Amino acid sequence: MAVIALKCPKIEVVVVDIFEPRIIAWNSDQLPIYEPGLDDVVKQCRGKNLFFSKDVEKHVAEADIVFVSVNTPTKTQGLGAGKAADLTYWESAARMIADVSKSDKIVVEKSTVPVKTAEAIEKILTHNSKGINFQILSNPEFLAEGTAIQDLFKPDRVLIGGRETPEGQKAIQALKDVYAHWVPAERIICTNLWSAELSKLAANAFLAQRISSVNAMSALCEATGADVSQVSHAIGKDTRIGPKFLNASVGFGGSCFQKDILNLVYICECNGLTEVANYWKQVVQVNEYQKTRFVNRVVSSMFNTVSGKKIAILGFAFKKDTGDTRETPAIGVCQGLLGDKAILSIYDPQVPQEQIQRDLSMHKSELDKPPHLRPVSPIAIEQVTCVRDAYEATKGAHGICVLTEWDEFKTLDYQKIYNDMQKPAFVFDGRNVMDVDKLRQIGFIVYSIGKPLDAWLKDMPAVA
Ligand code: UDX
Repeated sequence: MAVIALKCPKIEVVVVDIFEPRIIAWNSDQLPIYEPGLDDVVKQCRGKNLFFSKDVEKHVAEADIVFVSVNTPTKTQGLGAGKAADLTYWESAARMIADVSKSDKIVVEKSTVPVKTAEAIEKILTHNSKGINFQILSNPEFLAEGTAIQDLFKPDRVLIGGRETPEGQKAIQALKDVYAHWVPAERIICTNLWSAELSKLAANAFLAQRISSVNAMSALCEATGADVSQVSHAIGKDTRIGPKFLNASVGFGGSCFQKDILNLVYICECNGLTEVANYWKQVVQVNEYQKTRFVNRVVSSMFNTVSGKKIAILGFAFKKDTGDTRETPAIGVCQGLLGDKAILSIYDPQVPQEQIQRDLSMHKSELDKPPHLRPVSPIAIEQVTCVRDAYEATKGAHGICVLTEWDEFKTLDYQKIYNDMQKPAFVFDGRNVMDVDKLRQIGFIVYSIGKPLDAWLKDMPAVA
């Protein structure tokens, strides 16, 4: 919304939220989320044509276009628990819009929602419309965290789905006109409602599938002596495959990939498409496998036990340049290590201690997780400390796990770190960002995902 305000000075944008502290934060110097470049955009427009308010009903009543960006988490209970999207927030937003509206409106679905939600929302709005005309559009967001502002400035495409009626087409045109302020016309794709909704789930499923594919290859590389980075480079040169999203890692995280795939699986199952559902489910299962594999490597390398050993965790966010920890692979890895009674010292440049504690003690609904990736007890949490820099985290540690690819981890003084660690000193690089040769020269035993194994690791096979 801030980018719309910046690019369309004549449009007044009001962001509303029922949670007052968040609105206060948006109106302060300390924005409630960390996103490079966002501060700048907000500062340029706030108070001019960008406003933040808790007065939800007033501003919805006055608006011509309402973007609904409420969260659509995975249901934790009841029908479809663990897979289906929870539309409670969406439904109450739709009922509120219907209640307060006195003029015709375009309602834009911005949250990731399962296919055909728009139809349900349309029903709520039209059954409560009091003669008001509501047009529903689906306008899924493809930005990635950490690069959100750049992604919004130069999107690969903007997708707008709407009804194929004259009113629907008019609404599509109105939203197209907003984006046309800065997005070239050929990058604005217009489809029917269902195609737009499904495209969002499909895009995330395809992206996550690439990561699981390369991660599956990484296991085979370790077993055979191939190097996954060389394999990625070689296959990425095929223009049909392309080079992006082929970095092997300890697993993908983030608020979207897993949730959207599980949602896709649920929709397939509801439509009787068991084979299709199983195909996509496997993308999530390989992601779990990758985290388990990593934990097993750590434990087996250290003489099959990490009990009582200090392990430094460098990075907790699901990727660099964000403080977001939703579905971060670090949760599974830390829980796995705590399950083996390790003592963890965690450093992340952006994630606060309370968040880490909360993440490590939460109860997940996925019951099919392997036992050592299940939530840890409050006692285990006492074995976790969060520290303010990487040197403190690694001091006296037996091993280091790099779980987020923060740039600052590449330039640390590893000789100093090595000198202050227990020996043998281990580095487990879950992001393939370390200078492995340099670390080995210093004396570290290094494990990098999908890379030829150190002689030490070959002698200590990880059993799944
Ligand atoms: C994703 C989609 O990219 C975006 O289009 C959609 O709108 C929301 O979901 P985001 O979750 O912000 O965006 O992060 P993304 O950059 O896609 O990374 C997701 C996860 O995959 C991260 O944990 C990242 O570290 C991991 N990843 C990414 C890999 O492990 N390997 C890669 O090659 C790329």
